[in-house]
Amino acid sequence: MIVAIANQKGGVGKTTTAINLAAALALRGRQTLLIDLDPQANSTMSFLDMQQVTKSVYDAISEPSVSLKDIILQTPLENLAVAPSRIALAKLEARLVGELDAHFRLKDKIEKLSGEYAHIVIDCPPALGLLTVNALVAASHLLIPIQSSYFALEGTDDLLETVEKVRQRPNPALRILGVVITMHDKRTALARDIRAQIDKVFGSKVFKTVITKSVRLEESPAYKESIFTFAPDSTGATDYYSLCEEVIERGEARTA
Ligand SMILES: Nc1ncnc2c1ncn2[C@@H]1O[C@H](COP(=O)(O)OP(=O)(O)OP(=O)(O)O)[C@@H](O)[C@H]1O
Ligand SMILES: [Mg+2]
Repeated sequence: MIVAIANQKGGVGKTTTAINLAAALALRGRQTLLIDLDPQANSTMSFLDMQQVTKSVYDAISEPSVSLKDIILQTPLENLAVAPSRIALAKLEARLVGELDAHFRLKDKIEKLSGEYAHIVIDCPPALGLLTVNALVAASHLLIPIQSSYFALEGTDDLLETVEKVRQRPNPALRILGVVITMHDKRTALARDIRAQIDKVFGSKVFKTVITKSVRLEESPAYKESIFTFAPDSTGATDYYSLCEEVIERGEARTA
């Protein structure tokens, strides 16, 4: 299963979902790779010290001679490895101008890993450019985090349009695994309205699990830990554990 976590809207919980979903999968004993495709490198920094990162996904995507294996680093969490990002990734688009296989670079590199990882989770940047398209071309599934906020659904049309284009040619097998509502505050009427609105648009695609607002989820990256070791009894841990269960269920149902 290769899950791209994408939404071109910024700050909706992509990275928080990517790091904690990847950690939950690893904790279940499955070899998991988290690929950080965002030049901001927030996923990378959530587990590693940037000093450890000498080569990044940028090198693997732009240099034919560099494989993902050459850049992957083990995290302190068992079964979890990271393909790290660095700010250099921001130059990728310019670097690949005119390259006919620009959209296929990540897919080709992942194929060379030949099934070493049971799960791959890709954290995308807040844009619909070449990096996100590389993720959608490589992925088997797309998971869309949508923040419980007044402008929640803004931009999802463009995302779905891009998904349709990717499905038409480079990756007909791409499926929408689901939509997860993040930073939800169930006490407010607005949050309930927003949830109803998201349900109306995405129907059964919306995961039953809703990620509630939790300070613990904001804090854990600063300690280079996932929510499961940082605050195992928090609602954040319960929420992401339950999202992981649903992800596995849906992933298996679709491929069966
Ligand atoms: N459930 C939550 N409860 C409270 N804070 C959260 C929650 N999820 C995410 N956050 C916080 O909201 C901010 C944005 O989250 P995150 O970085 O995961 O979003 P993103 O979509 O990856 O952002 P970007 O588009 O910049 O990559 C972060 O400070 C994060 O800690
Ligand atoms: Mg992010």
